[in-house]
Amino acid sequence: MKRYLVTGGAGFIGSNFVHYLLDKYGQDIEIINIDKLTYAGNLDNLRDVPASAHHRFVHGDICDAALVDQHMAGVDVVVNFAAESHVDRSIGAPDDFIKTDIYGAFVLLEAAKKHGVKKFIQISTDEVYGSILSGSFTENDRLEPSSPYSASKAGADRLAFSYFVTYGLPVIITRCSNNYGPYQYPEKLIPLFVTNALVDKNLPIYGDGKNVRDWLFVMDHCDAIDFIEQHGTDGQVYNIGAGNELTNLEITDIILRELNKPRSLMTYVADRLGHDRRYSVDTGKIRSLGWKPKHSFEQAMIHTIQWYKDNPWWWEKLKTGEYLAFYKQNYKRDL
Ligand code: NAD
Ligand code: TYD
Repeated sequence: MKRYLVTGGAGFIGSNFVHYLLDKYGQDIEIINIDKLTYAGNLDNLRDVPASAHHRFVHGDICDAALVDQHMAGVDVVVNFAAESHVDRSIGAPDDFIKTDIYGAFVLLEAAKKHGVKKFIQISTDEVYGSILSGSFTENDRLEPSSPYSASKAGADRLAFSYFVTYGLPVIITRCSNNYGPYQYPEKLIPLFVTNALVDKNLPIYGDGKNVRDWLFVMDHCDAIDFIEQHGTDGQVYNIGAGNELTNLEITDIILRELNKPRSLMTYVADRLGHDRRYSVDTGKIRSLGWKPKHSFEQAMIHTIQWYKDNPWWWEKLKTGEYLAFYKQNYKRDL
């Protein structure tokens, strides 16, 4: 029985990964899922995962060394998703990014070293490379993160690598592009614009809307992590992406078209500070091992938009209170 410690497993990608593992390996695995349940953690994301010997949820903080130590015993594979993950929040209040993304990763690495885990997968991000106007970053390119979020992630990325070099901990680092899919907190571009459009609210487009991101369906990301766990080499970094590069305006067009909503909802607002123009990663390394995404962008995007349309119970309550207060405070306007 293979035992996983998944951190941040009540968040967007972590909860999809829990679903992925249980669907694929069912009775053959045990998952311990540690999540602090910050504003971004949501047990609704796991509502259809029954508590069982195969999935145990632990409400806790990865910065809590005693708690992490207690749950690391007997673990084979650590997959560290837990992080503060929203660039806009890191601009307003970086503190928690430094604590969770860097110090939390340190606590996990220490416990993994002590308990001799067989694999430690650090979920990093393509944002650690910074912006690139033409071409794509390979794993050997230098890191030039430009937001407090991406700088924190770069710190954890290199800290994890140092545990491989210094202590021989079997660490693998993944750097994935922007994800989309069900259960993504409605502060990120796609779920924000879909849920706003559904209730005829404005879609706030930063700057000229021509910033480019490479969009990957979340289940393809989960599949890539599982693939790397089995076929990756310790101490290596793997870029993950699908090559679906679109501007924010192109994403907005698709959402408005699918929901049959007017372009008048598009509202140009002040640009994000330090806004990276384009992210692009070269995924030749993971593809040379035999992995490629299974979902087409067009179909997975339509599926995602439909999911938010079908599940207002999931997102309606998230678009109130704290979330609106955050926007008002930081952007001096309502959404
Ligand atoms: P998310 O914000 O939706 O989820 C983060 C989860 O971590 C939440 O459930 C939250 O409660 C939990 N968490 C936060 N602080 C914690 C702490 N101290 N202890 C325990 N749990 C804590 O984020 P996401 O979009 O699912 O991203 C998951 C990971 O993937 C992050 O490490 C992120 O940097 C990385 N990543 C995300 C993307 C993307 O497009 N979303 C792309 C590449 C990499
Ligand atoms: P986001 O989903 O925050 O992901 P990231 O910044 O980590 O790539 O943003 C994706 C792109 O969408 C980015 O160029 C910023 C832009 N954006 C907007 O134009 N308006 C918004 O309200 C948000 C949240 C993002």
